[in-house]
Amino acid sequence: MSVIVNAKAPYDLQVEHYHGDVLTIRTATPRISWKYDGHVADSDEVELQITRHMPGQAGTVESIVTEPVNNVLFAWPLDPLVSREQVEVKARLVDGDTKGDWSQTLKFDEGILEYWELQSSFVGPSWPEAETDHRHLPLVRNEFTLKDTPVYARLYLSALGLVEGHVNGKAIGKDILTPGWTAYDDRLECWTYDLVGDLKAGQNAFGFYLGDGWYRGRIGFKGGKANVYGDKIGVFAQLEVTYPDGTSEQIFSNSHDGLWKVTKGPITQSDLCEGETYDSHLEKDGFDQPGYDDADWLPVAQIPFDRRKMEFPILPPVRANMVNQPISIKKIREYDGKADWQVDFGQNCTQRIDLHITNAQDGDVIELQHAEVLESDGSLSTRPLRRGQQIDQYISNGSDAHFEARFATHGFRYAEIRGWRGELTADDMQCKVYFSDMLQTGTFESSNENVNRLDDNALWSMRSNFVSLPTDCPQRDERLGWTGDISLFSPTAAYFYDVEGFLSSWLQDVSHEQKRLGTVPFYVPFIPFAEWTEPQGIAIWGDSAVRVPWAIYMASGDKEMLAKQYETAKGWIDEVKGYLSEDGVWDRKPAYSLGQLGDWLDPTAPADDPVKAMTEKNLVATAFYANSCDMFVKMGHELGKDDEADEYTKLANHVHLGFKKRFFNDKGIMTSDTQCAYALAIAFGLVDDDPEIKEFAGHRLALLVRRAHGKIGTGFAGTPYILPALTETGHMDEAYQLFLSEECPSWMYQVKMGGTTTWERWDSMLPDGSVNPGVMTSFNHYSLGSVADWIHATVGGLKPTAPAWHQFEVAPRPGGNLTSAKTSHETPFGTAKVEWNYTDGKLSVSVDVPYGATAKVDIPGYDTVELRDGHYENSFDYQAS
Ligand code: BGC
Repeated sequence: MSVIVNAKAPYDLQVEHYHGDVLTIRTATPRISWKYDGHVADSDEVELQITRHMPGQAGTVESIVTEPVNNVLFAWPLDPLVSREQVEVKARLVDGDTKGDWSQTLKFDEGILEYWELQSSFVGPSWPEAETDHRHLPLVRNEFTLKDTPVYARLYLSALGLVEGHVNGKAIGKDILTPGWTAYDDRLECWTYDLVGDLKAGQNAFGFYLGDGWYRGRIGFKGGKANVYGDKIGVFAQLEVTYPDGTSEQIFSNSHDGLWKVTKGPITQSDLCEGETYDSHLEKDGFDQPGYDDADWLPVAQIPFDRRKMEFPILPPVRANMVNQPISIKKIREYDGKADWQVDFGQNCTQRIDLHITNAQDGDVIELQHAEVLESDGSLSTRPLRRGQQIDQYISNGSDAHFEARFATHGFRYAEIRGWRGELTADDMQCKVYFSDMLQTGTFESSNENVNRLDDNALWSMRSNFVSLPTDCPQRDERLGWTGDISLFSPTAAYFYDVEGFLSSWLQDVSHEQKRLGTVPFYVPFIPFAEWTEPQGIAIWGDSAVRVPWAIYMASGDKEMLAKQYETAKGWIDEVKGYLSEDGVWDRKPAYSLGQLGDWLDPTAPADDPVKAMTEKNLVATAFYANSCDMFVKMGHELGKDDEADEYTKLANHVHLGFKKRFFNDKGIMTSDTQCAYALAIAFGLVDDDPEIKEFAGHRLALLVRRAHGKIGTGFAGTPYILPALTETGHMDEAYQLFLSEECPSWMYQVKMGGTTTWERWDSMLPDGSVNPGVMTSFNHYSLGSVADWIHATVGGLKPTAPAWHQFEVAPRPGGNLTSAKTSHETPFGTAKVEWNYTDGKLSVSVDVPYGATAKVDIPGYDTVELRDGHYENSFDYQAS
């Protein structure tokens, strides 16, 4: 009998971890994934039809049949692809002679596989430049002739510095900050663009804006550093076209054919944090079009770079993914027929104003300054920005124009627009929100608006800091890939978005820096600054080598990624093993001034001493190390390295034991009698072998929360774990009391104070509305937003318990006056969803389980039930906290 139950077409075909069609993948044997929108019968099979061809040539079609359960990262079933091969894949369900509908077709190009096929040179300014800072930025152009209109055209584009490309008068793609920031001494990304439709027979022209970016611009705090990777910027461009007659041609950026020219452009200086100055008098109208007279331009200079370091990205590009419009515009000053205006865009994030300049007179300077919050007197709060004053300037030539900074980004909600003539209205601007273009996978909503806002704040802080690499903050002169922040936030990030490509890209830099420096440094890419000059292994920050790959593995189930990161994780575990005392406690002080950062920024830390915390640093370090050892053992088992995993289990047990002996007394009181200490002990399973101590620890933690009147007492380290620890030990009243408290310090305090992102300090804004005087005060740090993981798992009720969400738990614990909530996550198998309503002691729950996954439903007072794919509804008697 032939059956195709719900004979729907497979959907969401995906190659590797790219979403949508891709122009260059980095492997010759890519894995393919797809999903089913409903149940699949046991007798069904999946047919994949794979068409492959070289550009402009006829292709071959092959069909592969496989089991439906192979739909996540299905190994490439054919001969390896070769450079430039183009592929189309579609899938359908088949049962004997019965065939389901075809899915949509996924298209991808192999692109260039071998680095030696990248033969262009980096070319840039050929005039003597200032040694550092605020250098006048160049334009590069090239004209070329094509014998016909191409049927295939690929531009491979990269830069030392930053580049924005144009062809025949039009911007190439929508990406900004190309090529992004990686450890350039090891790898530099090269991006691919499809130029079919933009090129024509005859004369064509390229025009490139170049910026300093991370390559040679000033980066970092305490004065920062310029020229970190080199002091010369340049563009790399390689165009490959195929004509209708099947012949091909390549064009390479170079300094020897005399066709690549350079001159100073309208951007007279640009700094990622300080901002950008644009003088419209210096515009070169039409420089990106054929026929432009470049007689007074100079030939380009070649900038040496080892092309073996170039690679194609696995992470998505940075793009404008959303738009914010002003919610208020106020005139704040008037002078000489001009005025200064203050604009509130309603949302703090990484964004840039696209300003439509009208009425300006020749020589007018329009200045834009950006800040996250206002001081009590209503002025922009610019002190916390330190060197990164976020000022853009536009010097007008008297014509109407659109202005948006090109090579600077800004973290802000408020802006002042100074020197404007006439009325400034919302029609004069839009604010483009930039982040790496990942697929959003997580949603959450509940009956409590404050809870929704808190969850949203965490989401916004993630977006703001997922700009090419995971940073601490998007506004002040720092914006570094601090390893500790993402170490703590990665599970939350992996719920909100598909971060596999983004974070596994960054993890390559973690591996590189570990090899180079002998430890996992404080931030990646690493640059020596001030007291952070000598990298030292410190807990949480270094633990990112284990925690981040594990978090993304739980979300994606990608064993190849895990295998790639395994040695780095092992390197970290082995390194710290050497720092332990005999009893398994990590108490050796790292040899730099701050020592362990511990429960960084707990609420008692004074404004000028963030490292001063209530909880012993050795306790925090040992707890995280024990947990990392446990994760590493799991990694080993997942990768089939059971013998090695068994070896490391002994180490893990030794550290667990050491932790218990050193940090608990016989009565179960911890040496640091703090929220953080008990939270870590419980959430990391460090007292699991002793139910009495565990129960006691739970009571003690609950007591500490009650004693604090529901105010939070943890910093970076304890915050992600305190609510899970209370939940696990059954203290839901205290969990909700803490979660919903509005007193400072608390999560809801930030919401109540109007926060639209997660703050770095619990009290970045003080209760009187003034900005915390600490030199380190950001309003956009995602770390404390890791509470969203608990919101999704416990308020919503959805949590992965096996890699790729192959199994997940549905365990909502309504409480704290919430009457409904819903949350969903787009898993590799499809959508997992929970929705609940609570009235009069009745909890009704609906659950969606995608095909290929199973859900365990856990409601207090009821037996756990295991669900296979489908939609389920049920109601339960339930007493909310
Ligand atoms: C950063 C943090 C980081 C910390 C480590 C700060 O300046 O903004 O988020 O993890 O330093 O000390």
